[in-house]
Amino acid sequence: MTAAPRTLFVTTALPYANGAFHIGHIMEYIQADIWVRFQRMRGHTVHFVCADDAHGAPIMIAAEKAGKTPQQFVADIAAGRKQYLDGFHIAFDNWSNTDSPENHELSQQIYLDLKQAGFIETRTIEQFFDPVKGMFLPDRYIKGTCPKCGAKDQYGDSCEVCGAVYAPTDLVEPYSALSGAQPELRSSEHYFFSLSDPRCVAFLREWTRGLDRHGEPRLQAEVLAKAREWLGDESDAADAAGDAGAGGKLADWDISRDAPYFGIEIPDAPGKYFYVWLDAPIGYLASLKAHCAARGLDFDALLADPRTEQVHFIGKDIIYFHVLFWPAMLKFAGRKVPDRVNVHGFITVSGEKMSKSRGTGISPLRYLELGMNAEWLRYYIAAKLNGRVEDVDFNPDDFIARVNSDLIGKYVNIASRASSFINRLFGGKLTQAASGNDQRLAELESEVARAYEGREYGKAIRAIMAYADEVNQYFDAHKPWELAKDSARHAELHEVCSRCLHAFYRMTILLKPILPATAERVEAWFGTPDLRWGELHDGDAALRARAVGRYEHLMTRVEAKQLDALFDLPAAGVDAGAAAGTAGGAAAGGTAKSGTAKGAGKSAAGATTADGGKAAGVAGGSGAASNSPATISIDEFGKVDLRIALITAAELVEGSDKLLRLTLDVGEDKPRTVFSGIRSAYSPQQLVGRHTVVVANLAPRKMKFGVSEGMVLSAAGDDLAGGLYLLDVHEGARPGMKVK
Ligand code: MSP
Ligand code: ZN
Repeated sequence: MTAAPRTLFVTTALPYANGAFHIGHIMEYIQADIWVRFQRMRGHTVHFVCADDAHGAPIMIAAEKAGKTPQQFVADIAAGRKQYLDGFHIAFDNWSNTDSPENHELSQQIYLDLKQAGFIETRTIEQFFDPVKGMFLPDRYIKGTCPKCGAKDQYGDSCEVCGAVYAPTDLVEPYSALSGAQPELRSSEHYFFSLSDPRCVAFLREWTRGLDRHGEPRLQAEVLAKAREWLGDESDAADAAGDAGAGGKLADWDISRDAPYFGIEIPDAPGKYFYVWLDAPIGYLASLKAHCAARGLDFDALLADPRTEQVHFIGKDIIYFHVLFWPAMLKFAGRKVPDRVNVHGFITVSGEKMSKSRGTGISPLRYLELGMNAEWLRYYIAAKLNGRVEDVDFNPDDFIARVNSDLIGKYVNIASRASSFINRLFGGKLTQAASGNDQRLAELESEVARAYEGREYGKAIRAIMAYADEVNQYFDAHKPWELAKDSARHAELHEVCSRCLHAFYRMTILLKPILPATAERVEAWFGTPDLRWGELHDGDAALRARAVGRYEHLMTRVEAKQLDALFDLPAAGVDAGAAAGTAGGAAAGGTAKSGTAKGAGKSAAGATTADGGKAAGVAGGSGAASNSPATISIDEFGKVDLRIALITAAELVEGSDKLLRLTLDVGEDKPRTVFSGIRSAYSPQQLVGRHTVVVANLAPRKMKFGVSEGMVLSAAGDDLAGGLYLLDVHEGARPGMKVK
């Protein structure tokens, strides 16, 4: 590990701008943010940037469906980002989007440089055309059977099962995900990046196996193994060399798309755009450039400086793009190539894999809205992470145990117990005696530093918690509560408690990359702002921790009912962003196969009954336990007769402050009367003329005010504090239509 100050350019993958963040994104940001904070605490300079990945056909089509321009659509998504990033203490220096002027310019420049260097070719290719939709089909809109492993319903560009990347025309039994039609082949001129060029293959063989400047492998072993598989082995290359210049197994990469496309125009090629994956990683550079401009830094000089290290954090599904295309593009455009690509696995929830476009069962926004402490999640995820490409499982019971027993029971416990004596008997002052075994501390510090550097956060946490155990044992062994009774032994008591608080102070430094907000409170408590790693090397005499203020709760325990609330998503409306994500994913020809049964099982669609209470699960059961979403068969669902209703009249109900009397046209001879507990949310005038959804076959119910002949559906949280939202119906639906 170098002691010399480093300059780091660090990124996380650019999320598609077609939905809110899901827990997988947040996990990636937490992983990178911890690493960045650690480097900064060590005195290194870090430029940490990200951006929205704005381009591509899916976003173009989702925007069209939403009745927005793609730019507006992306801007609306971007506007929702900050609350998550701030909420989880993720400290990017800049957040751009790939439609920025910087990215247009850089992408075109890099393309021109590649062309100049002889790496761009054009070729007329046969491409799938949807005869029903009348357009060339983007890869993601073509599905079929994977040519490598035979998995069904795979996308046209890559296989989610075996990771193979291929052309849509390689698919077995292709079909259009937009119309279901069998696509036709038509020809069109496309631009290619010559990945099969022997220079590329030679470079990538060397780069993927290389060491970073600290002597560590540039790629994790699992990632390198994948890369070698893709690159083929040396003997193939030797054969191939004699063979018309084809090297390894790499195929040239198709980097163009035909209009209409939301993307960056290819210079001197009217009607042709860069494929989104060409300009997306260049977005890393563009975001850095915008950051530099804002800070008065010289972007070109920063990247030209050989000492600047470029580090990417990504998930396992996008390795191919980051260890083949991206370094090769940079290399042959004459730019700095990445020093490292750090790959993480996926987060699963209670062992369940979640689809990429739907995210997982935990909504990060809901987590924050419930008032759950962001640092619990940071800590929990950190405790589960290592430097390998392993999936991380979010398990609610495990989460509670980790947070409560480690963070509260071990770490915070030291502060609260020791400081109670220090405050009560010693005016908050600490002794400056030796705080213990220097050798032990030096070992701990270097073990934890090594672990952070290698993204072995679980290891770092285990080491810190082992130390916390020792400190708690030390405290218990000295029985301070007994020392306190004997004034002759107060000096000893002072010493014991001071040592414990010094140990706590050091532990806070060690945990600060993971718990930045708690560390800030501790800094205020000791009156020692800006804890830095270097303080761990200072001797005890130099330790700044000399006194503490009055103890205030540093962190509260997590309660099981908070996790129950987290999983019991009350209606999609609560996380509008997540809902948009789902819609976006689906619009993107997304994971139709993932179905909706599970999502419905986890959400308790609130149906507002006459008395304003929540009716038992119309769409899967509000009574479903958090971990075992009840599923129902399609036949059971079919028993519920949902109809479109037009509200023709709405009146207050005398004697009730909850109810409104609605007159509904449900396409029958006679209108129906329904009493609905939505008065707190709607005035009668707001309702007349609106269409909504009614449960039409609910047994009529006799009430004090009359008979209610059905139930109107609305969304609400567990209590009514978050409001009530009547379901809306898209234009065109007519009263009486069945909802199915
Ligand atoms: N837009 C591309 C990346 C372009 S980078 C130049 C993309 N976007 S994404 O929104 O689908 O994914 C963004 C990141 O989130 C990726 O690194 C991906 O691996 C990660 N994750 C997506 N789902 C995840 C989990 N369930 N768990 C952990 N990370 C996951 O790919
Ligand atoms: Zn496959």
